[in-house]
Amino acid sequence: MTSLLRLSTPSDAHRWSDERRRDGQSIGLVPTMGALHRGHAALIERSQALCDLTVVSIFVNPTQFDRSDDFDLYPRTLDDDLALCDSLGVNAVYMPTVDAMYPDGFDTTIDPGSLAHRWEGEHRPGHFAGVATVVTKLLTAVQPHIAVFGEKDFQQLAVIQHVVRDLGLPVTVVGEPTVREDDGLAMSSRNVHLAPDARAQATSIKQAIDRALDRSTNTGSPSDIVEQVTTDIQQAGGTVDYVAVVDRLTLEPAAGLNDNTQLLVAAWFDGVRLIDNAALVATE
Ligand code: PAJ
Repeated sequence: MTSLLRLSTPSDAHRWSDERRRDGQSIGLVPTMGALHRGHAALIERSQALCDLTVVSIFVNPTQFDRSDDFDLYPRTLDDDLALCDSLGVNAVYMPTVDAMYPDGFDTTIDPGSLAHRWEGEHRPGHFAGVATVVTKLLTAVQPHIAVFGEKDFQQLAVIQHVVRDLGLPVTVVGEPTVREDDGLAMSSRNVHLAPDARAQATSIKQAIDRALDRSTNTGSPSDIVEQVTTDIQQAGGTVDYVAVVDRLTLEPAAGLNDNTQLLVAAWFDGVRLIDNAALVATE
């Protein structure tokens, strides 16, 4: 057990935040679904570097899961999560119940628009409406000055930035680079579901990305890159949902490489869905 302050309802969070703000303290929020790893820790440390106080929210949000088995099997490691938050010096953890978040009669959804239509949005119907709605509710409850999100979920970060801008929410959204395992696999709460063979195959995602980034093999054409990354992942045993070279701001497919192009990847390895991305710049 830790002595970490736990906030359980939106009004608890609101009251706590009101008092801290009245004292002139700045607040950073790191929204998570728990099963915390070093990627989450990097977000927490970024918030601590930018704000006086850091709140971590832990809420496995049912409305953003497009498959019920994914929600049911989502790893839940609350004791470890609280111990990590405590050891990092987090000031409060916001852990609402599903009922507190979505009381009887809850019927409002934020539809995040065109940035959410392609890629993850196409493969996970309703996902970004669930994310946009829950993040807006978390921001409204905790009232942070800044909120930190991972670039690992590149489209999610773009969607949240857009929602915050469109709704005029008084918060600065900060993106934090992806934290990886030693062999390059992007850290993810879902990695624990990878059996040893699939875990080994999954390193092909970062290897394929690195090959695409490598100036010596990069032909400079988005379609060649998409084909090469797709083939590399398939040859390693993965099933590709999409590989795309997109404009970083619109998330529309890019006609050519420039300073604003991003490579997005989603692939399955033995029943586990993984995503990754990297900035792709034009080579001379
Ligand atoms: P979750 O998957 O728990 O991720 C919480 C935050 O950690 C997100 O901003 C995500 O991009 C970031 N993150 C995950 N893995 C990372 C890594 N390897 N390196 C850096 N950052 C990483 O994303 C969600 O939860 C939810 O959709 C949420 C935003 C909490 C809304 O429910």
